[in-house]
Amino acid sequence: MGLKEQIDLSRLPKHVAVIMDGNGRWARKKGMMRVFGHQNGVKAVRETVETCAELGIKCLTMYAFSTENWNRPKSEVDALMSLLISTLRKELHTLTENNIRLRAIGDLSALPPDGYRELMEVMEQTENNGHMDLILALSYSARWEMTQAIQTIAEKVKTGALNPEDISEECISDHMNTAEFPDPELLIRTSGESRISNFLLWQIAYTELYFTPTLWPDFRTEDVYMALLDYQKRERRFGKTSEQIQEKR
Ligand code: FPP
Repeated sequence: MGLKEQIDLSRLPKHVAVIMDGNGRWARKKGMMRVFGHQNGVKAVRETVETCAELGIKCLTMYAFSTENWNRPKSEVDALMSLLISTLRKELHTLTENNIRLRAIGDLSALPPDGYRELMEVMEQTENNGHMDLILALSYSARWEMTQAIQTIAEKVKTGALNPEDISEECISDHMNTAEFPDPELLIRTSGESRISNFLLWQIAYTELYFTPTLWPDFRTEDVYMALLDYQKRERRFGKTSEQIQEKR
């Protein structure tokens, strides 16, 4: 039986998040510039998006650019931004054909104006697509997100719009950039690093983590299947005992 056939489609995660890592090392191994790795990473993005959409996953969040990535050499930041813009432009028809809605999380005001415009344009054009949400994390970091959520909540308390005792977990979730999406059940990180790197810290409280040594530009459909199969082998207990979980089944 192939990997795809082994996946139980009735137990798919609703939301998969991905830390795409290893582009630079992939390029260096080939004696090329880091940017070459990013360019080849786009194929992995396309294949991952198509595979998740085909299986019926409802949300896919991809960490495309972190707040910390602004500290990379200007030439690499510029190359990543142009790659993002050209990819968005090129892929609009694929998103439309596959009924995928583009969303974004992060400090989008920090993006260069042409990047921001392109992103808004593609988000607008795909707004009514309902098969899957593709969420790009751009200029995103979880601590930035939590800081701005706390500021907004504090402002509401100050003006009397919110009582401190009404600050529940749900209220905090509602002030995150991800308010309209469920928490991810599966987080994939490529390139052999076992870190979260300031990604979705609030949302991954109960998320299953999957680390693979595959470098991002080599990540393919079969790798998505392997991550999903690994996820389906696990028992998600949410702090309960194994017996309690078995009883519920
Ligand atoms: C991490 O590899 C990757 C990034 C910082 C950028 C990811 C961007 C893409 C795959 C291209 C464009 C994306 C979209 C959504 C169109 P790294 O540079 O940190 O690699 P290293 O750890 O080996 O140095």
